[in-house]
Amino acid sequence: MHLPDFRPVSYSRTTITELMVPSYANFGGKIHGGILLSLMDKVAYACAAKHAGNYCVTVTVDGVEFRQPVEVGELVSLMASVNYVGNTSLMVGIKVIAENVKTRIVKHTNTSYITLVAKGEDDKPTQVPGLTLETPEDARRFLEAIKRREIKEHSRQAFQNEKNRQTLAEDLAFLRTERCKLAF
Ligand SMILES: CC(C)(COP(=O)(O)OP(=O)(O)OC[C@H]1O[C@@H](n2cnc3c(N)ncnc32)[C@H](O)[C@@H]1OP(=O)(O)O)[C@@H](O)C(=O)NCCC(=O)NCCS
Repeated sequence: MHLPDFRPVSYSRTTITELMVPSYANFGGKIHGGILLSLMDKVAYACAAKHAGNYCVTVTVDGVEFRQPVEVGELVSLMASVNYVGNTSLMVGIKVIAENVKTRIVKHTNTSYITLVAKGEDDKPTQVPGLTLETPEDARRFLEAIKRREIKEHSRQAFQNEKNRQTLAEDLAFLRTERCKLAF
């Protein structure tokens, strides 16, 4: 199958809108975070697979932070676009909003970033088309995605260094300052 060298951001931009039905809610009447995560994964897949022209798998989910609850009866829309492409990976940005149809109040629930990898017929990572940035906003998102990846890599290395920095005695002494009880 021949894939184009480049595809524009607009080619794969995808929106899913779904009504929040009672079976999605927890005992407090708010929508389970897992329902929203599943919808985010779904829209990210649709967007990434369309750009890639191939089956994709989810590698990482970043920036998930639900700041406001979503209620039963609200319409949740998830807007996804490819923000960045590497060689075989893509980062999809997803903006989630919830709308109360009666009051017309729209809440911005979260913006998250899902990285997926395209797989070929042999189930191995396969190259994705490059991304044509059609607006300055597309260029800003592409650059931000690069910075996001770099910061994540630094943070991963810093965490590894920090883990190995202290002795067990120092770690245990630190735990005594926290709200936990050592039972061993
Ligand atoms: C994702 C997966 C294909 C990567 O395989 P791999 O052998 O590590 O492949 P590579 O090292 O060649 O990496 C492939 C791409 O993934 C990217 N990648 C790998 N791990 C990553 C991570 N933790 N965060 C971001 N990108 C990552 C690499 O940077 C590379 O991107 P590039 O080609 O654009 O430079 C493999 O780990 C996998 O199949 N994981 C399971 C995915 C899955 O089942 N998801 C849930 C169900 S959809």
